[in-house]
Amino acid sequence: MKKICCMNPISAAGTGLLGKEYELTGDLADAVAVLVRSANMHELSLPESLLAIARAGAGVNNIPLERCADAGIVVFNAPGANANAVKELVLAGMLLASRDIIGGVEWDRANKDNPDVAKAAEKQKKQFAGTEIAGKTIGIIGLGAIGYKLAKACEALGMEVIGYDPFLDLPDVNMTKDIADLYCVSDFISIHVPLLPDTRGMIDAAAIAQMKDGVIVLNYARDLLVNEADMAEALAAGKVRRYMCDFANPQTLAMENAIVTPHLGASTEESEENCAVMAVEELTNYLEHGNIINSVTFPRVDKGVPAKSVRYGIFYKDVDALAGISAVVGEDVKGSMRGAYGYAIADCTEACDPAALLAVEGVYKIRRVR
Ligand code: MLT
Repeated sequence: MKKICCMNPISAAGTGLLGKEYELTGDLADAVAVLVRSANMHELSLPESLLAIARAGAGVNNIPLERCADAGIVVFNAPGANANAVKELVLAGMLLASRDIIGGVEWDRANKDNPDVAKAAEKQKKQFAGTEIAGKTIGIIGLGAIGYKLAKACEALGMEVIGYDPFLDLPDVNMTKDIADLYCVSDFISIHVPLLPDTRGMIDAAAIAQMKDGVIVLNYARDLLVNEADMAEALAAGKVRRYMCDFANPQTLAMENAIVTPHLGASTEESEENCAVMAVEELTNYLEHGNIINSVTFPRVDKGVPAKSVRYGIFYKDVDALAGISAVVGEDVKGSMRGAYGYAIADCTEACDPAALLAVEGVYKIRRVR
């Protein structure tokens, strides 16, 4: 039995795809793979048996990526699988920020025992009036699966869109290469980038100072992309009209004019199923065939179902070891590098000497897949 450690509840739509040779467990010891959602894995010691981790979501900041890559543990995510759910929550956030729907509902609740509530409501409703989103400009930072879907939805709602993404050029979205262009024209700014050392705290006092007065900032990506002390000040000063944030913590919950949800972006039946299915398919394809699809640390290398009797997965680092690997195992090899890390799949008719493979410059781990 191959043990898969499930560190969070994962939809049965995905786990149900695991064949009889797999056993789900809550215990990391002896597990060959992990399925995880938000559990923090940074402090865990990872067993020798562990081959892969699949996150049933997009962000991977809860996983020690470098430590895993150095151990040849492949980390997968589920890009795009929850993009529609997050996009829909951002749209809800834009409407909640523009119209005082929450204030109105709270007023209703407080007046539920008033027999003249209907009359009173007509008198009181002006205090909950807001603005429309059509005709306004939204700046979208990060145009991956979520940001792109949001851009298209906002266009359809009659908004102007300006996108910023240093890694993408999209012909069908109005893009800028200078984030300052986005800051100075946007009525709404929505962030859709991963939390990395160079994105941490990117929305700080200096960034906010470049924004329009009364801007609405939406953060359904990761809390620490925003410098929370600077945001609290900007909200108190009225520079930022609303901060819509999907991350409840003592700082965000104490902010005046912030509307905070408890990380609900991907919490829909559909997205939980999509993420679980994608994560399980990635894991089983890797465990059974050695193919890597949607890893955040290793390149995509897909050689399908093995046609020969022996298959190796070979990990290398810092140097392109492909030619050296071919010299040992023959020509039926496919591989590439992603940053410093490389991965190759080699198919052979018979087993080769692992020591010869490990002697190739850069190679640090070999896994015999079959
Ligand atoms: C993601 O990273 O995919 C989202 O934040 C949703 C989630 O973590 O479940």
